[in-house]
Amino acid sequence: MRIALYPGSFDPPTHGHLSIIQRGLKIFDGLTVAVLRNPAKDALFSVEERVSLLKGALGNDRRVEVKTFSGLLVKFAQQEGVNTVLRGLRAVSDFEYEFQMANMNRKLDSGIETLFMMTGEDYFYISSRFVRDVARLGGEVAGLVPPNVQAALAEKFPRKD
Ligand code: PNS
Repeated sequence: MRIALYPGSFDPPTHGHLSIIQRGLKIFDGLTVAVLRNPAKDALFSVEERVSLLKGALGNDRRVEVKTFSGLLVKFAQQEGVNTVLRGLRAVSDFEYEFQMANMNRKLDSGIETLFMMTGEDYFYISSRFVRDVARLGGEVAGLVPPNVQAALAEKFPRKD
């Protein structure tokens, strides 16, 4: 079984993330979606909420597991017995950060490989940060996130009109 880790913050999960997961499943037999527990970061959704949003959006696909991790990604990968990390790459602006992260992870554990998938052309402009901003400011997030995330955002930011 070829399994990859798909790590991230997922605050919240977007159609961009889901697209990478679906496309990743064409290459891997299974994916472990790994949600970072990072107490230092100002998050909109708690880690538990993000896990539940991911599970809700993914449905009952037995090929995908959603887990949380804290500390180093490479340590979590070792614990899971997985040596491939899957990441989506949207634009040139993502490249430097991703390049550094992939190389740092390989330096920490030379057995870990990072595989990048180009985000689909419909999703390359979507980021969780922009989704949070748009929702906070009362903009339309349909088409950016799955319906369960849309509902959760509507609860966080009730419309005043
Ligand atoms: O969705 P994000 O915020 O771009 O995901 C970033 C993530 C979670 C993949 C990255 O921050 C991470 O792996 N953090 C764990 C800490 C770590 O391993 N750091 C060293 C490598 S840079």
